[in-house]
Order: sequence, then C-alpha cells, then structure tokens
Amino acid sequence: MTRWIAVLGVLAGLVVGAFAAEIPKNKGAEQIPLAGGTQGVVTFPHYRHQNALGDCMVCHKLFPQTKGSIAKAQAEGKLEKKQVMNTLCIQCHRDLRDAGKKAGPVICAKCHKKE
Ligand code: HEC
Ligand code: HEC
Ligand code: HEC
Repeated sequence: MTRWIAVLGVLAGLVVGAFAAEIPKNKGAEQIPLAGGTQGVVTFPHYRHQNALGDCMVCHKLFPQTKGSIAKAQAEGKLEKKQVMNTLCIQCHRDLRDAGKKAGPVICAKCHKKE
C-alpha cells in the first residue's frame, strides 16, 4: 500500500512537472503599437517574432518585458530615440535580407502607418 502511494506520488510529480513546462511565461501582447513620432505608429507583430526568432533576449536585452518599456527607457535617457528602430529592427531585417533569408521590412512606410 505505501509503495503504491509512493508510486502515485512520483506519477503525480511527473504530471505536474510536465504541465509546469507547458505553462508559458508571460508572452505579452500579440500585436504592440509603438510610438513612431512624425512617421506614425508602428504596429509590431510580437508573436510572429517570438515564433520566427525563438529567442526573447535578442530584443529584451535592450528593454525589459513590460508594457511601454521603450518609451520609459527613452524618457530616462537609457535609449536614444530611433535606437531600437535602427540597431534592432532595421538592422536585423537588413542582415537577414542580405543573407537571403526571410526578413521583415526596411522601408519606412512598411512599418510606420500614418492615420
Ligand atoms: C523582435 C523583438 C522582440 C522579441 C524577440 C520579443 N519581444 Fe517582447 N516585446 C518587444 C517589444 C517591442 C515590446 C513592447 C515594448 C514597449 O511597449 O515599449 C515587447 C513587450 C513585451 C512584454 C510586455 C507586455 C506587452 O505586451 O507589451 C512582454 C511580457 C514580452 N514582450 C515578452 C516577451 C517574451 C516572453 C518573448 C520571447 C518568447 C519576447 N517578448 C520576445 C519585442 C520583442
Ligand atoms: C522595421 C520597422 C521600421 C522601419 C522600416 C522604420 N522604422 Fe522608424 N521606428 C520604428 C520603431 C519600432 C520606432 C520606435 C522605437 C524607436 O524610437 O527606436 C521608430 C521610430 C521612428 C521615429 C520616432 C523617433 C521619435 O521622435 O521618437 C521616426 C521619426 C522614424 N522612426 C522615422 C523613420 C523613417 C524616416 C524610416 C525610413 C527611412 C523609418 N522610420 C523606418 C520602426 C521602423
Ligand atoms: C533578430 C531579427 C529581428 C528583429 C530584431 C526584428 N525583426 Fe521584424 N522580422 C524578422 C523576421 C525574421 C520577420 C519575418 C517573420 C515572418 O514572416 O514570420 C520579421 C517581420 C517583420 C514585420 C512584417 C510582418 C508581416 O506582416 O509581414 C514587421 C512589420 C516587423 N518585422 C517589424 C519589426 C519591428 C518594428 C522590430 C523592432 C521592434 C523588429 N521587426 C525586430 C526579424 C526581426
């Protein structure tokens, strides 16, 4: 009897472990509107990037995983305006394009939309 309880305990532990691994950490919003100044808002397809890149830190080493973190870092002088756009977004799209891989846009109006 005690042996069975022990076995069940182990099985329950495995099941809980498997579910814990399945529960995703906070992935944030699917689409994120980013302030684009005079060029108009940039609607950023967040999940598409998570799926295509499989690595959160390519972007989140520059700004934390919180809503409005880019604007906050800019206001605090930790990020320059257009720094994310130039050193992250466009840089990666250009590198992938030049490598002949599937990439995102490098043309202003493909990212920025004026109302
Ligand atoms: C290609 C860049 C990029 C990648 C990769 C990326 N994120 Fe983000 N993430 C952003 C941007 C941009 C924001 C918005 C920041 C802001 O509002 O100023 C953001 C915001 C967030 C937020 C804040 C909530 C929200 O919806 O605004 C969370 C949580 C988050 N990301 C989680 C993740 C996780 C988890 C991963 C990896 C699975 C990931 N991100 C991968 C760019 C990225
Ligand atoms: C790959 C998408 C992308 C492309 C292409 C792009 N931008 Fe941006 N742009 C952004 C993002 C994201 C931001 C907000 C983050 C930042 O300031 O780095 C931004 C911010 C800006 C800002 C606002 C700076 C401020 O005052 O806060 C201006 C102006 C701007 N872009 C102009 C341009 C022009 C001009 C082009 C074309 C030569 C261009 N962008 C191409 C994504 C893009
Ligand atoms: C490390 C590489 C990388 C970074 C950084 C990155 N992207 Fe992309 N982006 C991609 C790839 C790869 C695709 C193509 C994904 C797909 O088609 O599924 C893409 C696609 C896109 C698209 C087009 C989606 C569509 O509907 O066709 C937009 C818009 C875009 N990115 C905006 C941005 C903005 C804004 C940023 C910065 C906040 C950014 N990207 C940062 C790699 C990157």
